[in-house]
Amino acid sequence: MKMNVLVVGGGGREHAIIWKLKQSPLVGKLWCAPGNGGIAQMAECFPVDTMDIGGMVALALKLAADLVVVGPDDPLAAGMVDALEAAGVRAFGPNRAAAILEASKSFSKDLMLRYGIPTAACAVFEDSGVALDWLKNQKMPIVVKADGLALGKGVLICATLEEAEAAVRGMLDEGRFGRAGLRVVIEECLTGPEVTVLAFTDGRTLLPMASSQDHKRALDQDAGLNTGGMGTFSPSRVYTPEMAAWCTDHIYLPTVEAMNRERRPFKGVLYFGLMITPEGPKVIEYNARFGDPETQVILPRMENDLMEVMLAVLEERLGEIILAWKPDTAVCVVMASGGYPEAYRKGHPVSGLEEAESMEGITVFHAGTKAENGQILTNGGRVLGVTATGADMDEARARAYAGIERIAFQDAHWRRDIGIK
Ligand code: AMP
Ligand code: GLY
Repeated sequence: MKMNVLVVGGGGREHAIIWKLKQSPLVGKLWCAPGNGGIAQMAECFPVDTMDIGGMVALALKLAADLVVVGPDDPLAAGMVDALEAAGVRAFGPNRAAAILEASKSFSKDLMLRYGIPTAACAVFEDSGVALDWLKNQKMPIVVKADGLALGKGVLICATLEEAEAAVRGMLDEGRFGRAGLRVVIEECLTGPEVTVLAFTDGRTLLPMASSQDHKRALDQDAGLNTGGMGTFSPSRVYTPEMAAWCTDHIYLPTVEAMNRERRPFKGVLYFGLMITPEGPKVIEYNARFGDPETQVILPRMENDLMEVMLAVLEERLGEIILAWKPDTAVCVVMASGGYPEAYRKGHPVSGLEEAESMEGITVFHAGTKAENGQILTNGGRVLGVTATGADMDEARARAYAGIERIAFQDAHWRRDIGIK
């Protein structure tokens, strides 16, 4: 019996998930909503918005989908998995109660504090007067974060007291991040390399995936604005097997256990954003889903059948699975629209995709594209994730950048230093 699967989302992460599911002998039909120009080449796409929970449940019922995989954070936080399950549809991803681990930073900070999980010291405020008073006695730099989901943009690293005050006022008094910023978390500024570890968990067993590193800033040498992620590589060079074992005992398993104790059992993919500080690894953030663009370098290295692992999560049989990874290095370089992460234009034709994809070791995941009359057009800030695997970092990097040389669209920009740090 093959499973017919609907994937919710339309970015590079969802393209990578569909690309991987397509390789599974357990998978029959693949659908996506809303999808994008690249996904449409592998799965039938339906124009249902990721936040239209009623519309997505109706689509899943109409298609008689055997499983719905929810990619992005907002529908998870809004309870899409709960709504699908209530309608009798199986869904992969945490329910609303568990997705709060990503949706509220004050929740996750409080959880870490109470269960002794290492993270930056912090204070939480809803009143700007109290926050501004408290700030006067703090060491700079300091980090001001909107409590809720803010497309990865609600984190401000403030070098001076004035910057921190402006950040607090912007969130609490001026509504800069809407409801997400009506509560702020102010955090000690940590230093060190950042590593992402994704893990499957069924609430009992946790299986970490291979490590990766993201590049959040828009420009080379980590200059420019924070973005959703300009490129990734896997594995990380700083994340040693000893560190992995320590993190499993002190961070990963305690998190799963803490969520069980809070009666918010977590089933799905847990994303640990770690900073490797001089005092050891600490949690910068949790996400309740696959990372984007981390997924684009993790799934190409995964030996297992993704459908088999997802079913094991749903059926709480993850203890039966052993994850295996290709020894290759994978690199994903994001090609973005000129101006991203600020204002940018859409609708430019993209050329050279087929030529790039015919090159050895290259897969191009679409992030912000659409297909129109057989032509791929840009349709978002992050347009493509050009991904390459190779025997080592040098080979993977050379392949990814050779692929990029073949691809063109107006005002394209990308970082030249992915994988160097
Ligand atoms: P987040 O959205 O929580 O992942 O934060 C975005 C980025 O801000 C992270 O990837 C880090 O580079 C940076 N960041 C967040 N919290 C801290 C912190 N406490 N100290 C230093 N940098 C941080
Ligand atoms: N790459 C960061 C994220 O998925 O949130």
